[in-house]
Amino acid sequence: MSGISLHNYRNYQEAQVDFHPFLNIITGRNAQGKTNILEAIFYTVTGKSHRTGFDTELIFWGEKFFRIILNGERFSGRVKIEISTRSDGKKILKVNGQPRKKLSDLIGIINAVLFSPEDMMLVKGGPSVRRRYLDIEISQVSSYYCHCLANYNRILLQRNSLLKAVREGKESDELLGVWDKQLAEYGVTIIRKREEVIKKLLPLAQKIHLNITEGNEELNLKYIPSINLDIETSKSSDEDNFLKRLKENRKVEILKGITVSGPHRDDIDIRIGNINVKAFGSQGQQRTGALSMKLSEIEFMKNETGEYPVLLLDDVMSELDTNRRKYLLKVVKGKVQTFVTTTGIKDVFDTVIENSRIFEAQSGIINIVQEG
Ligand SMILES: Nc1ncnc2c1ncn2[C@@H]1O[C@H](COP(=O)(O)OP(=O)(O)OP(=O)(O)O)[C@@H](O)[C@H]1O
Ligand SMILES: [Mg+2]
Repeated sequence: MSGISLHNYRNYQEAQVDFHPFLNIITGRNAQGKTNILEAIFYTVTGKSHRTGFDTELIFWGEKFFRIILNGERFSGRVKIEISTRSDGKKILKVNGQPRKKLSDLIGIINAVLFSPEDMMLVKGGPSVRRRYLDIEISQVSSYYCHCLANYNRILLQRNSLLKAVREGKESDELLGVWDKQLAEYGVTIIRKREEVIKKLLPLAQKIHLNITEGNEELNLKYIPSINLDIETSKSSDEDNFLKRLKENRKVEILKGITVSGPHRDDIDIRIGNINVKAFGSQGQQRTGALSMKLSEIEFMKNETGEYPVLLLDDVMSELDTNRRKYLLKVVKGKVQTFVTTTGIKDVFDTVIENSRIFEAQSGIINIVQEG
C-alpha cells in the first residue's frame, strides 16, 4: 500500500499518510491518533472496524460523514479503495473508481492481520476470542464463509427469539423446524471450514512456535466443535447430525430460550506438548502461543491468496520481550508491509531501524519524523 488519506475520520479532519513499503512506525503520546490510523487501514480492507460495530462513531465529532481513500498495489496492479460513511449510516464504496454495492466486495483485494494487546488474550481468554480470531481470518479469504457466517448469525438470533416465544407459549415449537434446517446448513459449512483452516494453520504456527522457543516447545491446535461432525463423510450426513443434536437439545433450549450448541459455542484447544496452555501455561507461554497463532495468519493468507497481507501491530511491541520482538521483525522483514504503533520508540526498537519510516501523531496531525 502506498498511502491513505483521511477526511473527518476519528480525530483526523484531514490527513495524508504516505507509507513506507516495508516498515512504518507510528509514534506519539497516548490518545493522539496512532491506533486510529491502523483502524482506518483495517476498516478499508475489511469493511469493519476492529474497535466498534458502529460506523458512525468513526466520523469526526460534529461532522456528517467521513471518507477514506487507500492506495494499494497488488500483483494484479494498482488498486484504489474509497469508502465514505454518512451519519445516517449510509455507506459508499468504490474500488478503482467503480461503485460497489456490498462491503463483501472488499474481500480478497487487500488482506490485513491485526495484532493488538487484546490478542494476547487469544490463549488465555474465553472461547469467543478464539472464534473471532478464526472468523476474521477466514472471512478475509472466503466471501462464501463471510456470507454463511452472516446468515448463521441472523438465523441464530431469529431462532433464539422463537425459542423464547415458545417458552412463553406465544408460538408453537413446530415453527422451529424451518430455522433448524437453515441453521444446520450454514452451521455445518462454518464448522467444516474452521476445522480445515485450523489444520492449515497448525504446521505454520508450530514452526513459528518452535523457532521462538528455540526448538523447545511443540504447539498443538485443535478445533473443538460443540457438535461432532465427521469431515470424511458427506455434508448432508453432517447436517443430519446437527439436526439430531438440535432435536436432543429441544427441551433445554426452549427452557433457556437460547441455542446451546453450534459453531457459536465452539472453541480451539491450544496445547504445548500435551498440556493445555489456557489452564496450565505460564504467562510467557500463553503470549508466545498467541504470537505464533497470529503470525501463522501471515503465511496462511499468502498461501490462500498468493499475496502477503499487511501486518498491523497496535501497541504489541512493548508487550513482547527483546527476543520475541527481534523474531517478529525478522519474520516480516522485506516481505510483509508492517505498521507498528508505539508510545516510546526507544522502548521497542533497540537498534537503529533500517529501511523504515517513522511518523509522529499529535492531536490528529501526523508527520514523518525520520526516514531510515
Ligand atoms: N469520532 C471521533 N471524533 C474525534 N475524535 C475522536 C473520535 N473518536 C475518537 N477520537 C479521539 O481519538 C483519540 C484516540 O485516538 P487513538 O485511539 O488513535 O489514540 P492512540 O494514539 O492510539 O493512543 P494510545 O497510545 O493510548 O493507544 C482520542 O483522543 C479520542 O478522543
Ligand atoms: Mg492506541
